[in-house]
Amino acid sequence: MSEPNSPGESRRGAPRFFVGCEDDESEVLEDSMRTDMELYEDDEDTDSPPERQIMVGICCMMKKSKSKPMTQILERLCRFEYITVVIFPEDVILNEPVDKWPLCDCLISFHSKGFPLDKAVSYAKLRNPLLINDLNMQYYIQDRREVYRILQEEGIDLPRYAVLNRDPDKPDECNLVEGEDHVEVNGEIFQKPFVEKPVCAEDHNVYIYYPTSAGGGSQRLFRKIGSRSSVYSPESSVRKTGSYIYEEFMPTDGTDVKVYTVGPDYAHAEARKSPALDGKVERDSEGKEVRYPVMLSAMEKLVARKVCLAFKQTVCGFDLLRANGHSYVCDVNGFSFVKNSMKYYDDCAKILGNIVMRELAPQFQIPWSIPTEAEDIPIVPTTSGTMMELRCVIAVIRHGDRTPKQKMKMEVRNPMFFDLFEKYGGYKTGKLKLKKPKQLQEVLDITRQLLAELGQHNDCEIEEKKSKLEQLKTVLEMYGHFSGINRKVQLTYLPHGQPKTSSEEEGMSI
Ligand SMILES: Nc1ncnc2c1ncn2[C@@H]1O[C@H](COP(=O)(O)OP(=O)(O)O)[C@@H](O)[C@H]1O
Ligand SMILES: [Mg+2]
Repeated sequence: MSEPNSPGESRRGAPRFFVGCEDDESEVLEDSMRTDMELYEDDEDTDSPPERQIMVGICCMMKKSKSKPMTQILERLCRFEYITVVIFPEDVILNEPVDKWPLCDCLISFHSKGFPLDKAVSYAKLRNPLLINDLNMQYYIQDRREVYRILQEEGIDLPRYAVLNRDPDKPDECNLVEGEDHVEVNGEIFQKPFVEKPVCAEDHNVYIYYPTSAGGGSQRLFRKIGSRSSVYSPESSVRKTGSYIYEEFMPTDGTDVKVYTVGPDYAHAEARKSPALDGKVERDSEGKEVRYPVMLSAMEKLVARKVCLAFKQTVCGFDLLRANGHSYVCDVNGFSFVKNSMKYYDDCAKILGNIVMRELAPQFQIPWSIPTEAEDIPIVPTTSGTMMELRCVIAVIRHGDRTPKQKMKMEVRNPMFFDLFEKYGGYKTGKLKLKKPKQLQEVLDITRQLLAELGQHNDCEIEEKKSKLEQLKTVLEMYGHFSGINRKVQLTYLPHGQPKTSSEEEGMSI
């Protein structure tokens, strides 16, 4: 198993991670406090600035704080040298006034069934800790109408929907017109199949109504019970009490994409069979729900970022429906951890620890620099021990075939060429390469002059062949000017006359 040891994480001593509140007399707490005092006194001796642990409070229902993912992540969070985690006991949360709750500098707190969100809000007001998940936004997350309103305001794609609000005392006075194969809500028509969701987000009794052409009836979804998540009902007419959202049914491939953010720049995604299918939950041999790997597209990553920021929930789960080539958000759940993924536990703890350090290290006078990628050594667990993970292969590749060289060769004897040879130091090695525009221009000038002279004298003192000179002129005049690397002149001195025709090195070539 991998032991992540990123910068700022400490391996010395046991993880500081305890359950307690101010008056808690538990041993773990005392040990931790004593350690802190020793640290503090040591610091005074050496005259360095006082340092104290950054307290990260976990305030949620016990079912959540004692869950496996939470335990795994908190264990990893404790490896940060300057972070101590304190779990607020459930009976303290429920029964003690907030001024008796443990102190903390950073608060990870979230609502779930039975959680006193109002108290958590007053605690945050009283102590003003850094909030990993905003608390006030958690009221909105409990109401699907608010969730959809926020999604719409942020320009995030969601299914077309309408809200049917019912006064519990006058359930008949509402803007609903029902047909065999459609409903009209506030004047907006939804053909079957459509989805009916209770406005309360905690209520998972979502119904999907089938069209007559598909046999009618409806699929009633509910919170998973054992191996079932929905059941078919022959009932085709919609519910007549309670307030609902009606929305168009998005035709997916039969899976829901579950996304889990940890801050705006990180999202884990996995797919699960939609409960809307036949309601039979897919489970593996260990009894865990089957998950399919998912790669989010760039657009979906942007959606994850927007959801995380719009709802101010660093740790945030939501559902995506991939349909018609788009992805639609149909549910935002707020605080939610991925289950059974070591990689996620590692990543999540590291990101949360880094957020805490980045935000709080300055006021604690803790020297802290944002860890760089280079320090993030990619060691991964494998079946044969831990080893470095291959993250990418970078190759610079070129094709093997190239445009053939275009060469012309000619022998030159005119003194003007010899002068050029001398001028640019050709006699030092017997070879000369001319590439600069000015030099190539000189060769062209000589060629033009020789051709002009050839035109005048027919007795021909010029030994260079006219046709060769014309070819040379044509090549040098190509493109209208000299630039780039597409032409060069090579001159080779031949002290012993005639070159061997087979050798490329002799004579003058272009
Ligand atoms: N508009 C829709 N089109 C198709 N399927 C949907 C739609 N809305 C919800 N579903 C299905 O119903 C399930 C439950 O709906 P969701 O809004 O996620 O409610 P819950 O709060 O119960 O999770 C989703 O996981 C998805 O499979
Ligand atoms: Mg959902």
